[in-house]
Amino acid sequence: MPTTINTPVLQARQVRKTYMRGAIATEVLKGVDLTVEAGEFLSVVGASGSGKSTLLHLLGTLDQADAGEVWLDGERIDQAGARRRDKLRNKSFGFIFQFYHLLPELSALENVLAPLYIASSIWAWPFRRADAIQRARALLERVGLGHRLDHRPCELSGGEMQRAAIARALINNPRVLLADEPTGNLDEDAGADIARLLRALNTEEGLTIIMVTHNLEMARTTDRVVRLTHGRVDLSSPIVGLKSVGGGYHLPHGEDQSVHLDRRDALFVSNGAGSSNPGRPEVFGVGHLPQR
Ligand SMILES: Nc1ncnc2c1ncn2[C@@H]1O[C@H](COP(=O)(O)OP(=O)(O)OP(=O)(O)O)[C@@H](O)[C@H]1O
Ligand SMILES: [Mg+2]
Repeated sequence: MPTTINTPVLQARQVRKTYMRGAIATEVLKGVDLTVEAGEFLSVVGASGSGKSTLLHLLGTLDQADAGEVWLDGERIDQAGARRRDKLRNKSFGFIFQFYHLLPELSALENVLAPLYIASSIWAWPFRRADAIQRARALLERVGLGHRLDHRPCELSGGEMQRAAIARALINNPRVLLADEPTGNLDEDAGADIARLLRALNTEEGLTIIMVTHNLEMARTTDRVVRLTHGRVDLSSPIVGLKSVGGGYHLPHGEDQSVHLDRRDALFVSNGAGSSNPGRPEVFGVGHLPQR
């Protein structure tokens, strides 16, 4: 047997999740398989309610699967104990969310310091503090926020809050950045800036990123797009593109279809390989293009 050179950073194997509300069961993930290599920038798309956030939470040990396995760097983490999971969330995963989740009473610098403070013992902190501040400053400068160190979240724009949240997510050098609609609350320009920043962190620093997004243009700029359908990763029909022009759409090859949509509507279009009509482009969802 040849040895495998590329060990995946993160792997989901047949992950299942059902939410129970009283007697009503919602089966969200029905056996998700996903392998993420080091340095990959991956986006996850799918209809609203398809389980994208649920999957991100299970990968990052924010929630637990009912069945299946999650592996990080060869370690099975889905059944890790509470202390190990706390440590994984603090050190191995960085999280960013649509609504930033910064602590309102703290400055940008203090928000970025918080994970270091939490990771340190109270005795060690006085000795680590100066280095920690230096690192937090450097990261805030890296994300373009060096001039806003002392601003509290209410004194920052949305884009600036997301930059602070990215710096906070990176302060412990995570193995994987998990981003849940990081531009979902930003206007087009600010969203594009954040997308460029994530891409730069990926290419320049080798950061592995898994990003959930409804922004199809942004998804297309990532290395790989996976789609969640019917509770599984849909591998049958790879995504080949999306385009929306006025009241119709066309594939990158220029093939026109007359589907009537609003100006901002866009279609997820696959090559139809796994559909009942192979070879014909299959439309599997509607999203929004950013406003031009
Ligand atoms: N704590 C919960 N209890 C019960 N049902 C839940 C819970 N969290 C999520 N769900 C349900 O699970 C399904 C998947 O939710 P999830 O948030 O993962 O979707 P999503 O793909 O991220 O959607 P969106 O694009 O709207 O953010 C939804 O139908 C949702 O209502
Ligand atoms: Mg979601």
